Amino acid sequence: MLSIIDKGKNSHDLTKDEIISLLGCSTYDSALFDAANCVREKYLGNEVHLRGLIEFSNICKQDCLYCGLRKDNQNVKRYRLDPETIIDFATKAKSYGYKTLVLQSGEDPFYTTDLICDLVTKLKKLDFAITLSIGEKTFEEYKAYREAGADRYLLRIETTDKSLYEKLDPNMSFDNRLRCLKDLKALGYELGTGSLIGLPGQTLESLADDILFFKAMDADMIGVGPFIPNPDTPLQNEAGGTFNLALKVMAITRLLMPDINIPATTAMETLDKNGRIIALQSGANVVMPNVTEGEYRKLYQLYPGKICTGDTPAHCRGCITGKITSIGREISQDYGGRKR
Ligand code: 5AD
Ligand code: FES
Repeated sequence: MLSIIDKGKNSHDLTKDEIISLLGCSTYDSALFDAANCVREKYLGNEVHLRGLIEFSNICKQDCLYCGLRKDNQNVKRYRLDPETIIDFATKAKSYGYKTLVLQSGEDPFYTTDLICDLVTKLKKLDFAITLSIGEKTFEEYKAYREAGADRYLLRIETTDKSLYEKLDPNMSFDNRLRCLKDLKALGYELGTGSLIGLPGQTLESLADDILFFKAMDADMIGVGPFIPNPDTPLQNEAGGTFNLALKVMAITRLLMPDINIPATTAMETLDKNGRIIALQSGANVVMPNVTEGEYRKLYQLYPGKICTGDTPAHCRGCITGKITSIGREISQDYGGRKR
């Protein structure tokens, strides 16, 4: 097992069988996490990139079985921020020192292509790198956002097991999801994808496929997090993923993709109160603090127990800066794109 870890650390290449054996054995986890931490340090140094996350609408036309924002969930109070409010939150995020904004929402048809493009144009004037995370769109829509100035796009594949994907995301097609990722790449976006760890029916083999998929796609950002069952969804009684397994998928991804951006995800911290710091010491180099102001962050309930829902953006900025500097890392002052 240690020689597999060494091979990954030095060659950034592992076979599917090697990945499966790492995932299936817990004896050498700390060696795996240390190796991923070394690769991160060698390629990316001590800088941690912060992305300010604005969750601008929790309305979604999709019905993913794991997600609290699914359209059939009647127990969420829905909201939609108007462009002026989004720009106000962005201006505040600027004052806290953020260089990148992630605009995330459910798949909400209210935001037309013109509206998103206009918003992106205005936000670019505030000198941000802009990441969109607004779901599946057509090539033409992605192209229009890109021309308006969007730099990056996040769209998790969620799982590379096509039949599991189509079971958990009813009325959605795995092939269309792949088409979206390919279009985004062709349009020159920095591409972020990733998966949920611990979905019902997901195997270690399928997680190994996910990791190899990330590498084959040459994604610029990979975010993985544990699946956390939401009581307002059909998967309420499922077991959910563990922090440790999500951390292992993340660490192996770092071994294979030494120079990409990897966030310490919010879902990880939901399962372990020190989760983001542990992730930053196991291969991650990015944190995405929430910069949505007011009551809205409580309403963006993908899963229960989401951290920081009662805190303000100003508080989170100070909190996460303190945590990052306490482990000898520094907050990056640049836009934090992938540096090959
Ligand atoms: N647990 C953890 N993560 C979830 N997401 C959606 N529902 C859950 C859940 N129950 C993740 C999906 C999506 C991202 C925005 O949130 O992977 O891509
Ligand atoms: Fe929000 Fe620590 S990052 S309270």
